[in-house]
Amino acid sequence: MALDDPTKLRSYNWFNGKEYYNFSRRANVRALGVSREAFHGKPVIGICNSFSEMNNCNSHLRVVADAVKRGVWSAGGFPLEFPVISLGEQFMKPTTMLFRNLMAMDVEESIRANPVDGVVLLSGCDKTTPAMLMGAASADVPALVVTGGPSLAGNYRGAIIGQGTDGRKIFDQYRLGRISPEELLEIEGCMVRSTGHCTVMGTASTMAIVAEALGMSLPGAAAIPAPDARRLAIAEASGRRAVEMVREELAPSKILTREAFENAITVDMAVGGSTNAVVHLLAIAGRTPHKLVLDDFDRISRRTPFLVDVRPSGKNMMEDFFYAGGVPAVMRELLPLLHGANLTVNGCSVAENVGAAPCHNREVIRPLGEPIFGEGGTVVLRGNLCPDGAVLKQTAASPELCEHTGPAYVFETYQQMHDTIDSMDLPLDRDTVLVMKGCGPKGAPGMPEWGHIPMPKVLLERGIADCVRISDARMSGTSFGTVVLHVSPESAILGPLALVETGDRITLSVSRRNLELHVGLEELERRRARLKPADPHYTRGYGKLFLDHVTQAHLGCDFDFLHRE
Ligand code: FES
Repeated sequence: MALDDPTKLRSYNWFNGKEYYNFSRRANVRALGVSREAFHGKPVIGICNSFSEMNNCNSHLRVVADAVKRGVWSAGGFPLEFPVISLGEQFMKPTTMLFRNLMAMDVEESIRANPVDGVVLLSGCDKTTPAMLMGAASADVPALVVTGGPSLAGNYRGAIIGQGTDGRKIFDQYRLGRISPEELLEIEGCMVRSTGHCTVMGTASTMAIVAEALGMSLPGAAAIPAPDARRLAIAEASGRRAVEMVREELAPSKILTREAFENAITVDMAVGGSTNAVVHLLAIAGRTPHKLVLDDFDRISRRTPFLVDVRPSGKNMMEDFFYAGGVPAVMRELLPLLHGANLTVNGCSVAENVGAAPCHNREVIRPLGEPIFGEGGTVVLRGNLCPDGAVLKQTAASPELCEHTGPAYVFETYQQMHDTIDSMDLPLDRDTVLVMKGCGPKGAPGMPEWGHIPMPKVLLERGIADCVRISDARMSGTSFGTVVLHVSPESAILGPLALVETGDRITLSVSRRNLELHVGLEELERRRARLKPADPHYTRGYGKLFLDHVTQAHLGCDFDFLHRE
């Protein structure tokens, strides 16, 4: 075992030996103010921290890191905290998705280049958890994830407000003049009441749950609210566990099996997770020998009941989900559909971890036999408008629009949509299918969360709260509506979406998993001949690297050269 024999530690070569640099590195560890006894021969546990004040969701992770350090010290390890780029969903432009792969490279290379024997990955906001998992999967040094937890639910004069989900509805009311500027200012101070990530089943919550379902976090870790003392306790336990994982040589490649990915998709479907989980899981799996395809998601969605009542697909908050039993309670219900023998970071199997997990609130976590809905949250669509696929979150869609044919109204760009969406002259009615182009991985670029096209004012005024919306963008997991996303291939590389014109008829059929453009082939070819690819957004730097190498949505939007062969 590596821990019992210090010469087998990965860090041994950095600090031991007869070379000048062995001596020099030891001297520079001592510069941190630690004695030789504190680190000599001990497993070095890196604490990979995405703390940033530019990312409010992760702004408490220094405190979480201190708890991890307590755990590492108490188990006989030596903790060293290091920063990686942090991706704050609220601040970064044009989109954090442009930088997810950059962060994944930062994580991978920081682990690989440094004398760490094991790593605790501290994440929270949407892209930070998948980036950590992607980097750790490629580095393949023993690693486990500690997310920062959801923030406290917003509360405005006694009414619960879910960041994103309710924030958008409130802002629509403000656009219509039904909420005053003064009220909006008051709500602004009530909505995000603590550090931590968004407190609905958005992408951050989904990816924390996915990390736990993959077996990459300690059982029960995902849903503990950020300010809850138990968040620090599980961080401490994770630090301890990281030391033991080094001893057991328990690297991600032993946990991230094909079965682990199927477990994660199953849990994602049962909790009504964000559609973003699809691109992130495709990308994480792409770093392993176990490739996923979009049809894996649809196959698992069809057989997995939707069990968890949390906004935007339900009425509860992540806090309620935690009090009800969190991920272990859901996984216990799902055990007949899961690979129970799969190994997790605590050294136990999924079945051992969740077999006796209690559920404390059946309103929030339903039994397998009494689901909220018979299928999973996300469906995969195919058709001549999306030959390589598209996704829709059916649990957040309007049931009456899930089988719909209507005329397209096309926005050629996000900017055009943004500039005209409040115009009362838009020729729209309840049958209109809104189509937006130029928002995919290369088009925007970075595939921003623009897919939740705001409901046009002209429809809101008529009391129409939802219509079919289609784009090659992504959508925030906190959003809702009958929204088709991730259309692939994207319009910027002249996928069929680029050919749609206002007035074309489009059919969405969720039951048949179909998205069809009713325009003849000859006419489509005429339109295609008139199109030219747009000039690239970047000609240098990271942006050029991104444009040259990002893959399409159905492949996970990772860089082609980072896929594992
Ligand atoms: Fe960070 Fe929502 S803004 S999780």
